[in-house]
Amino acid sequence: MAHMAHLKLAPAPPQLDPAKLAPFVDPLPIPAVAKPVGTRLNAVHKQVPLYRIPIQEFFSKIHRDVPATRFWGYGGSVPGPTIEARSGVEIAVDWPNHLPAKHFLPIDHNLMGAEKGRPESRTVVHVHGAKVPPASDGWPEAWYGPGKSATFSYPNEQEAAQLWYHDHAMGINRLNMCAGMAGLYTIRDSFEDALNLPQGDHEIPLVLMDRMLRADGQIYYPVAQNSEAPWVPEYTGNAVLINGKLLPYLDVQARKYRFRILNASNSRFYFLSLSNGQALQQIGSDQGLLSAPVAVNRLDLAPGERADVVVDFSDHRGAKILLANFTSMLMQFRVAGEKVDDSTVLPQTLRPVTRLKESDAVVTRQLTLDEIDNLLDEPAIHLLDGKHWHEPISERPELGSTEIWEFLNTTDDTHPIHLHLVRFQILDRRVIDVTALVYDKKLVYKSEAFPPEPNEAGWKDTVRATPGASTRIIVKFEGYTGRYVWHCHILEHEDNEMMRPYEVVVQAKR
Ligand code: C2O
Ligand code: CU
Ligand code: CU
Repeated sequence: MAHMAHLKLAPAPPQLDPAKLAPFVDPLPIPAVAKPVGTRLNAVHKQVPLYRIPIQEFFSKIHRDVPATRFWGYGGSVPGPTIEARSGVEIAVDWPNHLPAKHFLPIDHNLMGAEKGRPESRTVVHVHGAKVPPASDGWPEAWYGPGKSATFSYPNEQEAAQLWYHDHAMGINRLNMCAGMAGLYTIRDSFEDALNLPQGDHEIPLVLMDRMLRADGQIYYPVAQNSEAPWVPEYTGNAVLINGKLLPYLDVQARKYRFRILNASNSRFYFLSLSNGQALQQIGSDQGLLSAPVAVNRLDLAPGERADVVVDFSDHRGAKILLANFTSMLMQFRVAGEKVDDSTVLPQTLRPVTRLKESDAVVTRQLTLDEIDNLLDEPAIHLLDGKHWHEPISERPELGSTEIWEFLNTTDDTHPIHLHLVRFQILDRRVIDVTALVYDKKLVYKSEAFPPEPNEAGWKDTVRATPGASTRIIVKFEGYTGRYVWHCHILEHEDNEMMRPYEVVVQAKR
C-alpha cells in the first residue's frame, strides 16, 4: 500500500481484537430495498415516486459477541436501504435529518467549513455517480441541521450502474461517513436485463467499510496529539465490516452469483481474492458494464470504487471459500452440497464501450495533486492544483464538450479522484519526474504511457491517480450546467482541502 507520513496521534483507548472473535457466526445481511412513500410533482409537473429516508442514530450488532455499536446512518441500518431505480425513470427522495445535536466523533474546527458555531450534526446527501441537476447533487456547503430536510430529484437518465449515496457535508464528511452514512443506489436498464445475469437471491451487494472499534464495540476515530487540531491524514480500522457485519458468512448454492462490491471505507484500499484461487469474473466497474468480462485474481478497489463480479460456485459443492483482503479474511462463502440448475449466463460480451477520441478533446487541463507537510514533516494538507476550496473556480468545461484532465500526482500516495456529474474513461498513466515538476515547474515524462488495466477500461467516475505519475482521463461533460465538485475520495484528504468546485457552463457560440 502507499506510504503515508504519520502524524503523532493521541493515545487510543483499548481496541477490539477481531482475531479473538469467533469468525463466521453471523449471516451476511442484505440491506432492505427502499419503498416509495408516495409521489411528488417534478419540475415539469409530472408525478414521480417519492422516497423518504431519514438520517438518524441507531444501534446495530456488528457481531454476535460484540455489544451493539452506535451508528449514524440512513433508515436505521448500515448500509442504508438500497434504492432500486430504472434508467429513464425519475424519482425524488426526501432526506430528513433526525440526528441528535452533538456529534459523537471528533470535529476539527480548523477545517474549512467546520468552523465553530455551525450545527455539529449537519448533513447533505450526494448520490455518487449520478447525473443530476446541481441543486440535487449534494453541494458540500448546502448542508442542513437536525429538524430540517431536503428533497432531491434523481432523473436516472443514465445506463445501468451500481451507484451509492453518502453524506457530503463540508469539513465533517469523513466523520459522518465513518459514523455509517452510506447506502446503495442501483440503476437497472433493459439492456442489462436481457443479458440474463444472476439476479434476485443470486445478486448480492458487498459493501466494505473498515472501522476502528474499541473493545466495547464502539466506533473510534483517532485524533492528533494537538487537541486543537485533531485532524488525521488517514483512517484505517482494525475491523472490516461487510454490509455492517464483522466476519459474516453467506450460504450459497452451487451456481453463479453476481456480487456488487463497493469500497465505502474512508481511506482503506482493498486487494480482494478468493481463498481457493478462483478468479473473479469482473463484468462492470463504477459506471456500469465492461465491454466483456475480465478474469481478475486480485481485485483492487480504492475508496469510492465499485466492481461488479460474477463468481461461479458450481464446481465447488460443499466447499467453504473465503473472501480475503491480502492475507486477512473478510467473509466466508458456504457452498451447498446439492447440484442446482442454473440458467443464468456469464456472457462473452457485455455492453460495447465506445472509446472517446483524444482528438475530440477541446481542452487539456494539467492538475497537480499536492501534499504540503508542516515543520515536523507531518502531512498538513493536500491540495488539488495547488488551490484551496474557497479559491475562485478554475475548471469551467462547456456543456457537451470533451476534455482531458491530466492528474500529476507529486505525492507518495495513490489518490482516488472522483468527479461529480460525469462518467469518464481512463486514457493512460505515465511515470513523471516529480522533482522537476515541483521545483522547476517542468513536466518531464520518465516512462512510456501505460493503458488502463482491462478492468479499468470501462466507464469510470473514480480513478486511482498513482504516486509519481500522470493519470489522464477523458470526459464528456453532459447533462447539466452548474456547479459541481471534484475531489480525492480518501475522505480525510477531501475534508482538508483536497476538493475543488468546478462549473459546467453553457457552450459559447462559435
Ligand atoms: Cu462519493 Cu463527492 O463523492
Ligand atoms: Cu460523487
Ligand atoms: Cu487523497
